[in-house]
Amino acid sequence: MESTNNNRGFSSNLGAILAATGGAIGLGNIWRFPYTVGVNGGGAFIIMYIIFVFLLGVPILMSEIVIGRRSQQNVMGAFKVLAPKHKAWLGVGVLSIVAALVIYAFYSVVAGWTLNYIVLSGSGQLSGKSPAEISQMFADFTHGSFWPLIYQFIFLGLTASIIILGVQKGIEKYTKILMPILLVLMIMMCIRSLTLDGARQGIDFLFKPDFSKINGNSVLDALGQALFSLSIGMGAVCTYGSYIRKQDNLFTTSLWIAGADTFIAILAGVAIFPAVFAFGLSPAAGPSLVYEVLPNVFNSMPGGMAFAVGFFMLLSIAALTSTISLLEVLVLWAVEELHWSRRKSAIILSLAVFTIGVFCTLSFGPLSHVTIFGLTIFDLCDKLTATYMMPIDALLFTLFIGWYLPKVDVYDELSNSGQLKARYFKVYYFIVRYIAPLALLNILIAGIIS
Ligand code: TRP
Repeated sequence: MESTNNNRGFSSNLGAILAATGGAIGLGNIWRFPYTVGVNGGGAFIIMYIIFVFLLGVPILMSEIVIGRRSQQNVMGAFKVLAPKHKAWLGVGVLSIVAALVIYAFYSVVAGWTLNYIVLSGSGQLSGKSPAEISQMFADFTHGSFWPLIYQFIFLGLTASIIILGVQKGIEKYTKILMPILLVLMIMMCIRSLTLDGARQGIDFLFKPDFSKINGNSVLDALGQALFSLSIGMGAVCTYGSYIRKQDNLFTTSLWIAGADTFIAILAGVAIFPAVFAFGLSPAAGPSLVYEVLPNVFNSMPGGMAFAVGFFMLLSIAALTSTISLLEVLVLWAVEELHWSRRKSAIILSLAVFTIGVFCTLSFGPLSHVTIFGLTIFDLCDKLTATYMMPIDALLFTLFIGWYLPKVDVYDELSNSGQLKARYFKVYYFIVRYIAPLALLNILIAGIIS
């Protein structure tokens, strides 16, 4: 077991920041953020999103990290150590494990699609097709069963192999390689997009706020997107938190993670919207924006094929660093609580995820008629986690820090036992005690009645 020695986790602060940022940056930034911004009218939504990320996201992030680093445990073990007398808190651990399993099951479906689109664009099959043909290809692919399952399986296998290599030799090493590639690809995409004729309109859409477009719904969308994008509310942050070294500053680490995550989301917007406007397409296409709208953009620009391959590689790298963080939650739990080896945990848990994942994949095709509460299996998994499990879990994490764990302990962890000043502490504590729980309760209630 590698849980109790001093080298439990990351080898440096940079390693911790890159791994946690890699977990945070994913399909949420490059696929979900742009279409959510598109649907909610652009600039004003982005400003609100940024306010939520820093006002609420950072304090909640810090709280989850505190639980992980203080306990030096997986998400279940954390509550055993920090609340030994109150077993009920173990429920938060259970909820986190279940949420990780379900999120990973449907996330791996969309992650698998990115591989298919690398192949499609690389082999020229998307080139020269009309918008109708491109939509048809997307439908044909997702309605099938063989290839979507194969790609999902490959993605799960890729993730598991990196996890089996361990925290430093797997997660840390690979995110250190993958994250810079992601940044470079992203910047290339932005330059290409910004130099198109008519790019201006897309930039205005992103950066000229029109506050009349904000309504109650977009406020909730912004908050929900902030939680999802920062990976808050299922123990991923808590698990990585347990790998952060005792001498690292949790406040600046959290600021870095949130800042980098937001920066990449905005870059994704800059890469996508100028192109969408330049080619006269609708920014409000919704979830299919990346798969059905963008190929048309690539088709109508010089060098579009290379651009397309680059983009879908970017998307799969981003997804991979996130699936690594999802699987690690489960694996660390199995290693520490069930005393399995890393290899055994990674294989068995990936197969368990695949067992649920198969139904998520097939719910686009052969099982599309199977609905539960009017939702397909994929949509059910998405809704269950995004609307219920994640906000509830995040709420319980903040309540644990704000109301259960002694204030001195929280201060001790954030100040590294008094070595750091932590002047922000009063503001932080107020947010975690009152503002964050109320905001989370609000999304939860709104999600339930909508
Ligand atoms: N944040 C990731 C993204 O933006 C997705 C993700 C990874 C996630 N781990 C998570 C979301 C844990 C919620 C909880 O794509």
